[in-house]
Amino acid sequence: MDLSDLRHLAIIMDGNGRWAKSRGWRRTRGHRAGVDSVRNCVTECARAGLPWLTLYALSTENYRARPATEVRTLMALLRRFMIDERPTLMENRVRLETAGRLDELPDKVVRTIRETEAMTAGNSGMTLCLALNYGGRSELADAAKEIARSVKSGKLDLEAVDEAALAARLYQPKMPDVDLLIRTAGEVRISNFLLWQVSYAEIWVTETCWPDFRKPQLEAAVTAFRRRSRRFGGLLPEETK
Ligand code: IPE
Ligand code: IPE
Ligand code: MG
Repeated sequence: MDLSDLRHLAIIMDGNGRWAKSRGWRRTRGHRAGVDSVRNCVTECARAGLPWLTLYALSTENYRARPATEVRTLMALLRRFMIDERPTLMENRVRLETAGRLDELPDKVVRTIRETEAMTAGNSGMTLCLALNYGGRSELADAAKEIARSVKSGKLDLEAVDEAALAARLYQPKMPDVDLLIRTAGEVRISNFLLWQVSYAEIWVTETCWPDFRKPQLEAAVTAFRRRSRRFGGLLPEETK
């Protein structure tokens, strides 16, 4: 599989709870199984030459609205992942980044994330961006606040506020626009994910729940993506005739 022609693949990893419930297990068991899918997906994408992968791991709404026990499990799994995956990330030259309001997460978890970010910062392969306590609306609100601050202090001229000025103040200013957005577990919605960056993303939804997501599902999504004609508001050459 060659993914070097894509710039940015983003995935809404949904359905862990349903996957577990349908087997008569607790939801948290689904999250545990989901970690295996993350490892598998990251490795496949890195080896296929993908430049940038963003995984939606926790939304601002998840963090606020899920039961405390589930959030605790997710935090523990996240911290374990940050430690256990270091050799795999290094081996595949993956650079770890995050997007979201990390300052609201437990200190211990954030420290571990920062250590993994620092350890992988020099890697020249794929960027893996984990969206953690992430909300598209929070990201835009935070960027708007930054702009207001710069204008107020005189560092930015009001007339210079444009799309580029806003994009430069997002959580990951270097994040490319999303080419392909995959959502697992069948829901056809964005759920507050990368609202700015998905403007012209191709969307592909699979019924497969995240714990069952493997190379065949990834290949199916990419094959469908390659058949799409992306117009970006314009016309294809044959349409202008
Ligand atoms: C996605 O699975 C993982 C997170 C949101 C953390 P869910 O936990 O949303 O699983 P479902 O949608 O309830 O099946
Ligand atoms: C989106 O899934 C968030 C993540 C996958 C991290 P949700 O399960 O939170 O989305 P809704 O609630 O079904 O829209
Ligand atoms: Mg869900």
